[in-house]
Amino acid sequence: MHEHPGHEWWRTAVFYQLYPRSFQDSNGDGVGDLDGITRRLDYLNDGTRASLGIDAIWLSPTFPSPMKDFGYDVSDYTGVDPVFGDMAAMERLIAACHDRGIRVLLDFVPNHTSDQHPWFQESRASRTAARRDWYVWRDPLPGGGVPNNWVSAFGGPAWTFDEATGQYYLHSFLKEQPDLNWRNPEVEAAMHDVLRTWLDRGIDGFRIDVMGMVLKHPDLADNPPNPEWSDGHSDYRQFLWTNNRNYPDVYGAVRGIRRVLDEYEGRMAVGEVFGTPAEIANYYGGEALDGLHLAFNFQFIHESDLRGGFSAWDAPTIRRIIAASEEGLPAGAQPCWAFGNHDRPRFISRHNSDGRGDERARAAALILLGLRGSPFVYYGEEIGMVDQLDIPEERRQDPARHHSIWRDPARTPMQWDASPGRGFSRATPWLPFGPADISVAAQEHDPDSMLSLYRDAIWLRRQERALLEGSLELLPANDLTVAFIRRAPGARPVLVAVNTTGGTTTLPMPQPGRVIIATERTLDSSLAGSLLRLPPFSAAWVALE
Ligand code: NOJ
Repeated sequence: MHEHPGHEWWRTAVFYQLYPRSFQDSNGDGVGDLDGITRRLDYLNDGTRASLGIDAIWLSPTFPSPMKDFGYDVSDYTGVDPVFGDMAAMERLIAACHDRGIRVLLDFVPNHTSDQHPWFQESRASRTAARRDWYVWRDPLPGGGVPNNWVSAFGGPAWTFDEATGQYYLHSFLKEQPDLNWRNPEVEAAMHDVLRTWLDRGIDGFRIDVMGMVLKHPDLADNPPNPEWSDGHSDYRQFLWTNNRNYPDVYGAVRGIRRVLDEYEGRMAVGEVFGTPAEIANYYGGEALDGLHLAFNFQFIHESDLRGGFSAWDAPTIRRIIAASEEGLPAGAQPCWAFGNHDRPRFISRHNSDGRGDERARAAALILLGLRGSPFVYYGEEIGMVDQLDIPEERRQDPARHHSIWRDPARTPMQWDASPGRGFSRATPWLPFGPADISVAAQEHDPDSMLSLYRDAIWLRRQERALLEGSLELLPANDLTVAFIRRAPGARPVLVAVNTTGGTTTLPMPQPGRVIIATERTLDSSLAGSLLRLPPFSAAWVALE
C-alpha cells in the first residue's frame, strides 16, 4: 500500500528495542532467542489494552557473529546466528509480528565487520588480495607508528598492526571489528545488497549502527584536540571526531541507503548518530528529506559527548533539549527519542542518587510518549528495570569493560516473574538477573504499576491525534516544571507537564482541561480551576477544551 508523505506508519509508531540475548530463552541455553521473542509477542501487542501496545520492534544484531561485541561484530550479514535460532525462526518471527501489525527492524552494522568475516579474511591475506581495499589499510609512519591519532571508541589506538602484511588496519571499535572502506564502490554495492536481501524477506526497516562513522576524511587526517577534555583517564574524548565522525561525505552514503529503501514500499531507517542537534538534523537530508527517516536524539541520556556524563533530570535541561530539537530539524522531519539503550546505564539507575529514580522514570514515560516524535522504549524500561551492578568478575561479558564502558548492567535478562529463572530461562542466564521484585507478573494486574502506566499511556497516545501528529509548543519557562502543548488541526490539544523537583508545584493552565493520565492517582483530581497541582516528580497529560 502506498503511504502518503507525512502519514507513514513510522511517524506514529511506538518502537521497542529488544536485546535478543535477554528477552526470552526458548531452548534452555540461558541465552534469549528468536523463538523466545515470538512466544512473547502477545505481551508486546495482542491488539488489546491488556498488552503493551507497541507498534514496532528493533532487534539488536541477530546475525552470525563471534560475539566479541555481542553481534556488533558481524561475520555474515544475511544469516542468523545459531545462538538465536535459524532462518526459519526469523521467518516465523517476522510472520508472527506482521500478523499482529508489529513492524520489525533489524540492526544494520555498516561501519565494520567481524575480523572473521570472509571479506576481511580475504582482505588481510595479502597486500594484493582482491578485497584488500574493502577495509582501511595504511603503512606505519616512519619509525613504525600508527597512521594517525584516531582513538577507538572503546579506548586505545584505532589501529592494529598486521604482522603478515606489514600494514595497520583501522578499527573504530574493537580490533576484532575492522572498519569497511565505504569509499570503495564495491563495498557500498555489497552493503546495499545486504539491505535488499532483508527487505526482500519482509523486514520493515533498520536501525543503523554508528552511521556517522561510515565515511572518514579521505586522507585520514589527524583529529584536533578536544578543548573540553579534562579526564586524564579516558582517551576516547581526548580528540574531537572532526575527521572520523559526521564527516560531510557521510551524507552521500546516507542518501545511497535511502535510495535502496525507496525501492520498496513502507520501509524506513533510524540512524544511531551522535553530535550536536545541527549535526543530527543533517541525517534527515535537509529540506529535501532524502536522508534517514529518523535519527536518534540521545540528549536525554547525554547532552554533550564532548564532556561525557549524563543529562540531569531537571526542568532547564529538559526544556533546553526539547527546544534545541524543535529549532534544529528541517520541516517535515520528526525527532526520535530514547531514554535508554543497550549501551548506557538504565534511566532509573542514572537518576537514583536520592532513591527517587522510580518516580522520575514514571514522569519520563509520560514525557517520552508525550513528546513530538518517535519514542523508543528499551526492553524492561516499562517495568522499571534497573542496572544490575552486582555481577561477579567471572560472569562479566562486555569486552568494552576492559577499555572504557561497562554495559552488562543494562543488558540483564527480562524479568517476567519472580521465579529463580524469572520466566526467562530454566538454565543459568548469560548475565545475572536484577532484583526479583521487579517483574511483569508483579505489575500486570496492578493499576498503579509502571507497566500499567506505560500500557495506559501508549493506549491513550493512540486515541489523541494531537499526541500522534501535533506540533509542540513549549510553555514559558520556570525552574521547577516543563510543560508543552501538542496541537493538531481538528483534534483536542493535549498539555504535557512534569515537575522535576522534590516539592509540590502548581502550573497555571492556559485554558480549561481535564487530566487524562498522570503518574499519581491524586493528580486526577488536582486540576482546581486554572491551576494544575503537580506533586513531587510527577507528570500529567491534560486534554484541553
Ligand atoms: C554502537 C552499538 O550500539 C554498540 O553496542 C556497539 O558496541 C558499537 N556501535 C559498535 O558496533
